[in-house]
Amino acid sequence: MSHSSFWSIQTHKSLVSTQDTLKALIDKGEAEEGTLIHAIEQTGGYGRHGRKWECGSGNLSFSFMLSPRANRLQSTSLSLVTGIALVRAIQDALGITNDDVILKWPNDVMIKGKKCAGILLETMKQNVIIGTGVNISSAPIEEAVSLSDYNKNITLTPEELLLRFLEVFEDIYPLWQEQGFVVFRPEFMKLSYKKGTPVHVKLPDNTVEGLFQDVDEQGNMLILCKDTQKLQKITAGDVFLV
Ligand code: BTN
Repeated sequence: MSHSSFWSIQTHKSLVSTQDTLKALIDKGEAEEGTLIHAIEQTGGYGRHGRKWECGSGNLSFSFMLSPRANRLQSTSLSLVTGIALVRAIQDALGITNDDVILKWPNDVMIKGKKCAGILLETMKQNVIIGTGVNISSAPIEEAVSLSDYNKNITLTPEELLLRFLEVFEDIYPLWQEQGFVVFRPEFMKLSYKKGTPVHVKLPDNTVEGLFQDVDEQGNMLILCKDTQKLQKITAGDVFLV
């Protein structure tokens, strides 16, 4: 499997964080749309809210740069469509046709209630940096799961999964640029947990409880709030399934 000329891939044996390496390149003006940093080993990765992202050996860590034409509001939904691309690539790699692999809004990839992949979207100088980590051969913490926990017989390498993801993403990205999240909304809802699922959402100042209802055309989550019995729009937050 090979990749198209859209991507300019730099593979490193070991990095502290692919995200930081890419940011440093952007800072020096040495990155462009499609520049992708891949690390075979990542020693100090981080996730959303600065949380530590542990990456055991045999897992996939990469970050890539995009310069979307769309406005910043829409850029948030780019992380949702990245999640769709990742689920499609994982399903394809594992030959999964059921709903064992799902998306937890905004973009955690879950297998049977445990997280197997995470996506971090940051912006810098009109660019978007998307960092992705997938537990393929090992789950570094108890609460996480790896693809080989799901299927002991898989022989998938990080490089194979990366190339599958890039193929899918390349189809998705132009469509998202042209039409935004709206065309991906039905697929997101199909891959997401079911309507009516009880959720707790941790916001900067408080936590809201409710039932998951929908994702709107911009990619915001809508929940039926337990306290108010009204629909509440969530633009950012940590979701816990209860
Ligand atoms: C999350 O779930 O909070 C997002 C995790 C993102 C981790 C990836 S691994 C590759 C890239 N480099 C980093 O330091 N973080 C992201």
